[in-house]
Amino acid sequence: MLKELSVWRDRILEHAAITEGEIVLDVGCGDGLIAFGALDRVGEEGLVIFSDISQDLLDHCRSLVEPLQVLDRCRFVCAPAEDLAPIATGSVDVVTTRSVLIYVQAKQQSFHELYRVLKPGGRLSIFEPINRFCYPEPPHQFLGYDVTPIEETAGKVRAVFERIHEPASSPLLNFDERDLLTFAERARFAEIHLELQATIKQPKPLDSHDETSRLALGNALEVVRQSVESHPKRGHGASALASRSRTVHSVSATLGRDDAVL
Ligand SMILES: C[S@@+](CC[C@H](N)C(=O)[O-])C[C@H]1O[C@@H](n2cnc3c(N)ncnc32)[C@H](O)[C@@H]1O
Repeated sequence: MLKELSVWRDRILEHAAITEGEIVLDVGCGDGLIAFGALDRVGEEGLVIFSDISQDLLDHCRSLVEPLQVLDRCRFVCAPAEDLAPIATGSVDVVTTRSVLIYVQAKQQSFHELYRVLKPGGRLSIFEPINRFCYPEPPHQFLGYDVTPIEETAGKVRAVFERIHEPASSPLLNFDERDLLTFAERARFAEIHLELQATIKQPKPLDSHDETSRLALGNALEVVRQSVESHPKRGHGASALASRSRTVHSVSATLGRDDAVL
């Protein structure tokens, strides 16, 4: 696991203040980064619900759980964050979610759902990257790189990206930490704690021999090619590139339902 990810995982779990015997729901569990950490904390009497919109990822998580012989302490629920219908109202102690709502258009509805499934006094611990922090960039920069000598070309590439991922409506870009607070307040979370971490650093020099650089460049060029050829509305390449922006602006909010003190 990447070191940076384990740091975020630990912070999310610490903010969740999970105790033994509790029921934890991890929304958008992916391959289980947060859910497996929660499993250690709920102990033998507790329960972790892995939930995601991808049945494949849930099956993958189940295959990782099986050899651990803790299947009786796990549930697997295929549901979108914006409609957690399979989870009963007021049924879980803690909800965790990391880097999921950024992909969801209906963020306010998701917060209502996260609130609905919590027991009175339950907690939500959430982390989301804020892409808007590094957007828009000044004309001489592209993904953090100084593109002064090719500023005009960079501007054309930027226009392609903006056509594919219209910033005002793209769920990847159309919110910041203040919006997350508002969503939480409107969902009736009573106590809210927000941490904002902003880091600006020089991007790694692009190196044609380096696989990451090649992938980044390949993605960018592929998006431009697709756009020129077919003018698609959306493209995975763009999404991958957007989430790889050089400036990471992260928010971790721990939200207590009703009178929970965190
Ligand atoms: C970047 S991954 C994060 C996975 C995991 N939370 C982690 O911390 O490693 C995003 C996850 O969100 C899931 N996802 C995307 N849209 C979703 C939605 N509307 N509802 C629930 N999960 C969603 C994806 O299937 C994916 O597993």
